[in-house]
Amino acid sequence: MTNLIDIKGVTHAYQTPLGPLPVLNDLNIAVPEGEFCAVVGPSGCGKSTLTRLIAGLMKPDRGEVWLHGERVTGPRKTVGMAFQNPVLLEWRTILQNVILPLEIVAPSLPKKDREARAMELLALVGLEGFENKRPSELSGGMRQRASLCRAIVHKPDVLIMDEPFGALDAFTREDLWQTMHELRAKEPFTAVLITHDLRESVFLGDQVIVLSGRPATTQYVLDVKFPGERVLDGLYTPESSAMLHTLREQIQIAQGRAEPGQAA
Ligand SMILES: Nc1ncnc2c1ncn2[C@@H]1O[C@H](COP(=O)(O)OP(=O)(O)OP(=O)(O)O)[C@@H](O)[C@H]1O
Ligand SMILES: [Mg+2]
Repeated sequence: MTNLIDIKGVTHAYQTPLGPLPVLNDLNIAVPEGEFCAVVGPSGCGKSTLTRLIAGLMKPDRGEVWLHGERVTGPRKTVGMAFQNPVLLEWRTILQNVILPLEIVAPSLPKKDREARAMELLALVGLEGFENKRPSELSGGMRQRASLCRAIVHKPDVLIMDEPFGALDAFTREDLWQTMHELRAKEPFTAVLITHDLRESVFLGDQVIVLSGRPATTQYVLDVKFPGERVLDGLYTPESSAMLHTLREQIQIAQGRAEPGQAA
């Protein structure tokens, strides 16, 4: 299997008035095509910086980012992004928001085809009937569903999500986890998900990368062996508990609160 995302020895520092702030240090991540990579790590360790580097919005000081066998040197059209704040445009309807990337990436696609594509996704996430509403008329969870549709409407080969469910209540979040699995089953994509929620990382991830404290490097990689089907009940099994325990221990180490083997 080829790696769709290859992050090789990425090192980066921000230049600040107080001098360089090292954020990433010799970071290596490999995500095979079709896999879902969850990334967890202490607050401020460099996770959002990592998403900007993968998307080509920034260049690393050292190291390389490869997508689909091509070195990333600038923004690419084949990347979809979703953030904690859905940032939908209030002057556009939900449908018009979702088709926005198609207007940019596929301007020659007839309007009716763009709309049909957007409607197909909106139906898939349960937003049929809301396509002509404005973002403010929807709940937070519904807005985030629309934002996920917008992120994948142009069939990106990689979807990058930076805490997309972070602002939602626990039940809405769990609903959206299931929506993610439904979207993936219908339209496979390769994903990088930044999250603070360890259960989310295990439920959605094929691998979970634990980043160390800043400057972040790959501290631990968990190969997720989810017990059976990806249903929420599977999180309440001894196998999942063991994975969550390992991740919690690794986060404590990353936060400098425990030495390896000593985490509570
Ligand atoms: N444009 C910038 N210029 C200077 N420093 C920055 C810039 N962006 C981020 N930083 C700093 O780099 C570090 C990493 O930031 P980043 O946003 O990548 O962390 P994060 O892991 O996403 O944090 P959080 O979990 O809180 O979202 C932080 O100390 C932040 O203050
Ligand atoms: Mg962040």
